[in-house]
Amino acid sequence: MQNVFLNGEYLPLKNAKVSVLDRGFTFGDGVYEVFLVYHRNIFRFEEHLQRLNNSLSAIYIKNPYTDEQWRELLMTLVENNPSDNQSLYLQVTRGMSDRDHAIDLTDQPTVFAMSKALPERNLSGGVNAICCDDIRWKLCDIKAITLLPSVLLRHQAALAGAKEAILLKDGHVTEGAASNVFIVAGSRVKTPPKDGSILPGITRDLVVELLNDSGIGCHETEISKEELFNAEEIWITSSTWEIVPVVKLDDQVVGNGSPGKVWKRVVDIYQQFKNRQQIV
Ligand code: PDD
Repeated sequence: MQNVFLNGEYLPLKNAKVSVLDRGFTFGDGVYEVFLVYHRNIFRFEEHLQRLNNSLSAIYIKNPYTDEQWRELLMTLVENNPSDNQSLYLQVTRGMSDRDHAIDLTDQPTVFAMSKALPERNLSGGVNAICCDDIRWKLCDIKAITLLPSVLLRHQAALAGAKEAILLKDGHVTEGAASNVFIVAGSRVKTPPKDGSILPGITRDLVVELLNDSGIGCHETEISKEELFNAEEIWITSSTWEIVPVVKLDDQVVGNGSPGKVWKRVVDIYQQFKNRQQIV
C-alpha cells in the first residue's frame, strides 16, 4: 500500500482526504514541485526547494517548513518506497476557506506529497512535437497547479500523435506544455531566456550549466518560429524526461529525422554528471 504525506501525517493513499473547500480544489490556488530520485538520492534538491520557495512567495503563501524539514519529510517517503528510482510529487495549496476569491493570509496551507516508482523512460529515439500558440498566462515562472492550458495543449499534441506541444508567443518560442526547449542552429545551442514567460526548469538550468562548462556553450536568447523550424536539432527537457530529441515538428522532419550529434554529447555529459552525484 502506497504511503503519502498529508498535513503532517504519513498515511495510505486511499485514506488521504482533503476538503472540497480546499482552495486547490475550488481555485487551483497552489503550487507544486516534481523531484526525481536516483539511487535513493533526491536529484537537485536545493534547486527544487529554491523554486518552491519562489513559487510560494509569489502567491503569498508562507513556506510551512524549513529546508531540513522538507528534506526529512521527502526522505521518509523515499525510504518507504521499495524502488531505488522514484518520482516525488509535492503540492502546497492555500488550504481550506469559504469560496471567496480574496486571499486570507491566515489560512493554513494544505501540504501533500507522494512518491512513485519512476516508470521506464526511453525516449532516446526521439519524439514528435507540434507547434501551438502559447495560450497561458503571464506568470509562467510560478509552478502553479492551475494547469488547464497545459492540459489542453498536451491533449492537442496527443490528438496529433505527438508527445509535446512547443509554444510560440509573439512569434517566439517560450517552452513546451510541460518542458523547456533547446535548439541547435548553425552549430549554436540556444534556449529562451528566463523572463517570466517560461518555467525556470531545473533540468534546463543544469543543461545550460553543463553546456557552458563543457565548452559547447549555450545562448539564452529569443528563438523565432523560423529558427525553430530551421533548427538542426530540437530538444525538450524536464525532470521526468531529462533531455529528449524532437525528430519531427508538425509535418516537418527535424535535421535528418534522427537524434542529433550535439544531443548525444549533451546526454552523455548529463548522465556523467548524474553518476557523479550518486557517488558523493
Ligand atoms: N513539469 N516547463 C513547464 C511548463 C513544466 O511544467 C516543466 C516540468 C518544465 C521542466 O521543469 P523541470 O526541469 O524543473 O522539471 C518546464 C513537470 C515535470 C510536471 O508538471 O510534471
